[in-house]
Parts: sequence; C-alpha cells; structure tokens
Amino acid sequence: MGFRDDFFWGGVSASYQVEGAAFEDGKGPSVWDMFCRQEGRIADGRNGDVACDHYHLYQKDVDLMREIGFNAYRFSISWPRVLPDGYGAVNEKGLDFYDRLLDSLLEAGITPFVTLFHWDYPYALFRRGGWMNPDSPKWFVEYVTVLARRLGDRMKYIMTFNEPQCFIGLGYDEAIHAPGIRFPIWDTLLMAHNVLLAHGMAIQALRAELPEAKLGWAPTCSAHYPLTETEEDIEAARKAFFDIFTDRPFWNVSLWSDPVFLGEYPKKVFDLFGEHMPEIKPGDMETIRQPLDFLGQNIYNGHAIKSDGKGGYEFVPRKPGYAFTGAKWPVTPEALYWGPKFLAERYKVPIIITENGISCPDVVSLDGKVHDPDRIDFIHRYLLQLRRAADDGVDIRGYMYWCTTDNFEWAKGYTERFGMIYCDFETQERILKDSAYWFRETIRANGNNL
Ligand code: FCB
Repeated sequence: MGFRDDFFWGGVSASYQVEGAAFEDGKGPSVWDMFCRQEGRIADGRNGDVACDHYHLYQKDVDLMREIGFNAYRFSISWPRVLPDGYGAVNEKGLDFYDRLLDSLLEAGITPFVTLFHWDYPYALFRRGGWMNPDSPKWFVEYVTVLARRLGDRMKYIMTFNEPQCFIGLGYDEAIHAPGIRFPIWDTLLMAHNVLLAHGMAIQALRAELPEAKLGWAPTCSAHYPLTETEEDIEAARKAFFDIFTDRPFWNVSLWSDPVFLGEYPKKVFDLFGEHMPEIKPGDMETIRQPLDFLGQNIYNGHAIKSDGKGGYEFVPRKPGYAFTGAKWPVTPEALYWGPKFLAERYKVPIIITENGISCPDVVSLDGKVHDPDRIDFIHRYLLQLRRAADDGVDIRGYMYWCTTDNFEWAKGYTERFGMIYCDFETQERILKDSAYWFRETIRANGNNL
C-alpha cells in the first residue's frame, strides 16, 4: 500500500529560528528577542537577530526546497512582525514579507503549511499579562483575522499553535524557554485554558473567513510504544502515551488534545490539580472543540513500555549504549508507528507528521560537502515505521522534516544542527547535505524505495 499518492513531503521552519531581521521594517519585539538579551539564557549568549536571514534570503531557500523536491513547506508567521503591539496597528511591511514568501512557494509548486504561532509572542502582550489575561484569546483572533484577510487566499493548510506543551510548559513552568519565569500551577493552568480557547476561537474565525482552508494544530508528544506486541504491553503503552504526570504537568498529549478533539479535559487533570484548575465557563469546552481537518503531530521519540501485570505500566530502562542524537535525544523509530496509531485511534482524525528530525554534529568536509549518514539512517528508520502505520490503514497525509535549514535552536543557540540544508551562519552560505539528496530520491519514489 505505502503512502498516498498525494502525500505531503516537506521541511519545516519557525519564524524566530530562521528569519532574523528582528528589529527591521517595523517588527515589534517578541518574548524571545527579550529572553535572548538576558545573560546566561542561551548557549554562547547568541540570539535570533540574524539567524539564517531568511527574511532577506527566502527566495534562495525556496529555490533549495524546490531542488530537494518538497511539495510542502511548513513555516510560521511572527505575530509581532504583523502586529508590533500584539493588537491594533498593523505593520504592512511585515505582511508584505509573508505575501512574497507565499507567492514564491506557490510559484515553486510548494504547498504552504502555515503555523500561526510558533512561540515568538509579542512582548507588548506579555507585559499585559500574556496568556493570563482574559482578553488573550481575543488578541489571537484579531491577529489571525488580519492574516486571513490579507494572506488567506494562499493559506491552504493552517495550524493554530505549535507545541503548547513547550511554550507554556518550558516557558512558564520549567522556565528554560522565553519568557523564562516560573509561575505557580494555577496560573499556568489558566494560561493553558486561554491557549485552548484561543485555538477554538481562531478556528471559528478561520472557518468563517476561509471556508476552503484545511485547519489543524501541531502539538508534540513523547510517543511511547510497547516493548512487545502483546495485548498487555500495547494497552500499557497506550495508557502511558496519554497519561499525565505531576513533575512535568504540561508535557503530555491529553491535557491538550483531549479538550481540542474530545471537548473535555482528562479526568486525571482534575485528580491531580482539581483545586487549581481555572474556572471553566459554560460553553468553553464547546468553543475549544472545533472540528479539525487534520492533526499536525510533532514526534521525535518515545520510551518502551511494558505491562506491570496489574493493569498498569512500567517504563523499560533504556539499554546501555542505546542510540541517541546530537541533542542526546534517544533514537526510537517505533514512535512513528505507535504514535500515529494511538492518536488516530483516540482522536479519529487524519494525521500529518509536522516535525520529526535529528540534530547531528555536521561539518563541511574537505570535499566541500556535508556528509550526514546518521541523519539518513534516522529518517529511513522512522519512515519505515510511518509507512507501516499507513499500511495498517492509519490515515497519514504527510511527513515534514525538522528542519529545512540549520537554524537558531532556542536555548541551545547555534549549537545544534537539525537541518537538511547546512547553513554557515557567518557567510549565510547554504549547502545541501547528503540527506537532502537522499530525501529527494525518497520523495521521487513516494517512499517506495525504503
Ligand atoms: C521542537 C520545536 C522546533 C525545534 C525542534 C527541534 O520542539 O517545535 O522549533 O526546536 O523541536
């Protein structure tokens, strides 16, 4: 069977990680611009002021994507580039940039997948209480409506949020990402609720403005998988996959995607945090649960799980010497089989893998090329598992590699290279890595060569 004929093969980026031009053409500051200015926050004290200078070099990047053969490109729009104060005055020059980018992609035959928010929150709104402010969902809807009216004719696939697990969990709970301030659980749960409301209200607004567009969102997960394929281990992995833990309360699937797809918070949320939950007003859960056309799921890895023999589950310790990536993330291809399978089963919606990838210590070799066999092996293994899920009948519509071009990797600065395209951050020279040529062959064969 394999992948569908209209399968989306692409690469991903995020505005703050690639654009640069951080203070150009009227863009307002984001929480990331300000976070990078605090000492000790980012590896080597770097920032995204220039990054890959995609703001100016986008055409070069689109040409390279065309060379690889992408038929899709997932990128995000910078909210403060469009609305420098978060709401109110619109920055036309900012909109012009996305206008040019969309045209250039369509001209190259690449379908744009637009993420409306990938973490660069307007600093002006943060100063007004950010996601704790009861108006925060409305601010998001205002921003989204501006985009729909100006760019909507070319935004075919739209995702509201990228990884709420991270911008709330890492930003306000673990405080290792912007804005990097730790808030108590009652405040972070309130933020989460407002993000969910913002998602639902934005989908309502987009349906009204753009009835043709395909809408989704792009959360992340740890895609736990069974140690063996016995019924007991599979059930144990399913439990672990959707479970919620007190030590990292936002790092899970169900607190986020249950409200979005099922219209309710999982019971475990109330068991763990009941007294700290925000007020849920009548109608809130209906607003949050809007029909979506797809689930954009980011999956990098998971953990082997086995049954504890009592209806529960256990994490299986990783083997000594297990494979891990440059970012020290485990290599667990099974995550790309079980993840989509469990998600499709629970949420009954088509799935697009909107991020998956590996950081490697890539260098330009003496022959001027970038040889990245580990990346090829990683993608190959993961795609085999994804194809197995497709063969099993899971409705999978696409695979997007994180990331297109090496870029600013958040708190890790420029110390991690995830790209299929090498970037020299001093000269802005780009080089297609071996994996890009390998991916080109895989796209041509629609994955049947794996
Ligand atoms: C994801 C983020 C993306 C990138 C990759 C490595 O969590 O969405 O921006 O940092 O991890």
